[in-house]
Amino acid sequence: MTALEAVDVTRTYTMGGVEVTALRGVSLAIEEGEYAAILGPSGSGKSTLMHLLGCLDRPTTGVLRIGGRDVAGLSDTELAELRNRRVGFVFQSFHLLARTSTRDNVALPLVYRGVPRAERRRRAAEALATVGLEHRLEHRPGQLSGGEQQRVAIARALVGDPGVVLADEPTGNLDTRTGDGVMDLLERLNRERGVAVVLVTHEADVAARARRRVHVRDGLVERDESP
Ligand SMILES: Nc1ncnc2c1ncn2[C@@H]1O[C@H](COP(=O)(O)OP(=O)(O)OP(=O)(O)O)[C@@H](O)[C@H]1O
Ligand SMILES: [Mg+2]
Repeated sequence: MTALEAVDVTRTYTMGGVEVTALRGVSLAIEEGEYAAILGPSGSGKSTLMHLLGCLDRPTTGVLRIGGRDVAGLSDTELAELRNRRVGFVFQSFHLLARTSTRDNVALPLVYRGVPRAERRRRAAEALATVGLEHRLEHRPGQLSGGEQQRVAIARALVGDPGVVLADEPTGNLDTRTGDGVMDLLERLNRERGVAVVLVTHEADVAARARRRVHVRDGLVERDESP
């Protein structure tokens, strides 16, 4: 089954009266359980594509589907709910709340779903154990290393049991060894739990480990290498 799909999407940003077209007509289907890397030069539209695939943003033209369902007709609230259930996001800059404990950061997606507090706490602790941070539940992000913060972000992406995790340069801010640990973690989730993983990377060795490589250039998919 197709987890996420973009059909001929474009995205034009307007800034101070100037239009910038970040995507010029991209079609991409992400299948359940797959492991794909998105590659391309800076400014080529990779993050824009990730935001659209995960329905964090709406396209200027074209169709987006989550689990086969066209999202165009959904209200922002309905879309947020669907996204919250199906997709986990990991951003390069972690996006963690500074004054909030690790456990509560991870539990946040469940707040939006109306999960009761005790269950949120239990599931957040479980997700943190998955990423090897069961001993850091009450730390704040600032009290953690970069690699640990990235793992907290992964735990938060996983806590709702999504079918797909979208990771935008998840190792970009990490040294090689810490980055390898994060990659091992994502690979394990894919292999053992069947979570589809789509990641943006600039690193050749990270891309080489993916089963599919999508090359983006100037707002278009230039090459899509699948087995
Ligand atoms: N919110 C925005 N408003 C205006 N222009 C934007 C916005 N977001 C992105 N752009 C422009 O769209 C183009 C694509 O940006 P995008 O962030 O998708 O690139 P990228 O491939 O992720 O680059 P990088 O590898 O540097 O992260 C760029 O030219 C960028 O300046
Ligand atoms: Mg980017």
